[in-house]
Amino acid sequence: MRAIQYDDFGPSSVLKLVDLKLPKPGEGEVLVKVTAAGVNPVDVKIREGLLVSRVPCIFPIIPGWDFSGEVVDHGFAAHRFDIGEKVIGYCRRPTIQHGTYADYITLPEAYITKAPRNIPLKNAAALPLAGLTAFQSLFSHGKLKKHETIVIWGASGGVGSFAIQLATKKEATVIAIASKRNIEYTKKLGAKYAIDYTTQNVEEEVKKLSPEGVDLVFDTIGGETFRRSFDIVKRKGRVISIIENIKEASLLPKPEIEYHYCFVEPNSSNLNSLREMVENGELKIHVDAEYPLEEAAKAQEMVEKGHTRGKIIITMD
Ligand SMILES: NC(=O)c1ccc[n+]([C@@H]2O[C@H](COP(=O)([O-])OP(=O)(O)OC[C@H]3O[C@@H](n4cnc5c(N)ncnc54)[C@H](OP(=O)(O)O)[C@@H]3O)[C@@H](O)[C@H]2O)c1
Repeated sequence: MRAIQYDDFGPSSVLKLVDLKLPKPGEGEVLVKVTAAGVNPVDVKIREGLLVSRVPCIFPIIPGWDFSGEVVDHGFAAHRFDIGEKVIGYCRRPTIQHGTYADYITLPEAYITKAPRNIPLKNAAALPLAGLTAFQSLFSHGKLKKHETIVIWGASGGVGSFAIQLATKKEATVIAIASKRNIEYTKKLGAKYAIDYTTQNVEEEVKKLSPEGVDLVFDTIGGETFRRSFDIVKRKGRVISIIENIKEASLLPKPEIEYHYCFVEPNSSNLNSLREMVENGELKIHVDAEYPLEEAAKAQEMVEKGHTRGKIIITMD
């Protein structure tokens, strides 16, 4: 099978196209023929060696944490999915080694859910990691409730695009923070208000809309943006960040505000809820660009620029 692999941390040029033996599914595992892989900023961070303190890496590494595809074989006692069944999954494992930028992958069934039936299978690869991150940040950590107001920073990105739609479905009022070219995009996804962070003063605009501050701030940017989140949340409100702001968090300015860092976990039950929302037409997947496997380096370079609208995917055909 073809796969993208690298032997050392570094720039996108470390990514090489290689031929490997087809892996065999072990106990409780399935073999999936990958249709497409999601390309996520974390793939770049891992390639640069920025995650070693969190998740051990074993070289050579095949990058990629989410996928869509078809079950083609199963190992001992793995019978939840039929051969030929279309599936999706987020497969962050305890170590980083066998990823989804490949023609085939083996993994335990617990990481997998049926793919949505109403969209092209390749587009479904954009859902698992970013969708689960938005879901777990808003609901498991953020405890978002009906009629609350939420600010979403980075609202036009992969995670932000799903977060807007999930919050809107919950009947929360969404204030999206995006650049000018993405204002209409975020409103189409359900944001009631959108603030252009490149020309407007975000704190002043949020105060006009929500004078006491908002109930929940979802930070997908980190650093200075994380610090500013505490100026727009109400007293006893909540801030959820998916960026590990270790230094900033140690200097939290307002102890009365609840803060959580969310590191998304594989969860096939959450993923199944997202699949149902896609099938019900409540969750749209916007694919910004797709690249063939051999152009994985280009796909990562695009993501590295930090201005993806929705998601970028790599297709295997
Ligand atoms: N902890 C976790 O479990 C977890 C999970 C997923 C992602 N993440 C991290 O979360 C971050 C976002 O992920 P993603 O997949 O959503 O990224 P992405 O798809 O690359 O999104 C980038 C988006 O951010 C917007 N943006 C850039 N700078 C901004 C700013 N200063 N203010 C507001 N928006 C800004 C861009 O919009 P414009 O083009 O309009 O600027 C773009 O749409 C990444 O760092 C990723 O590694 C963490």
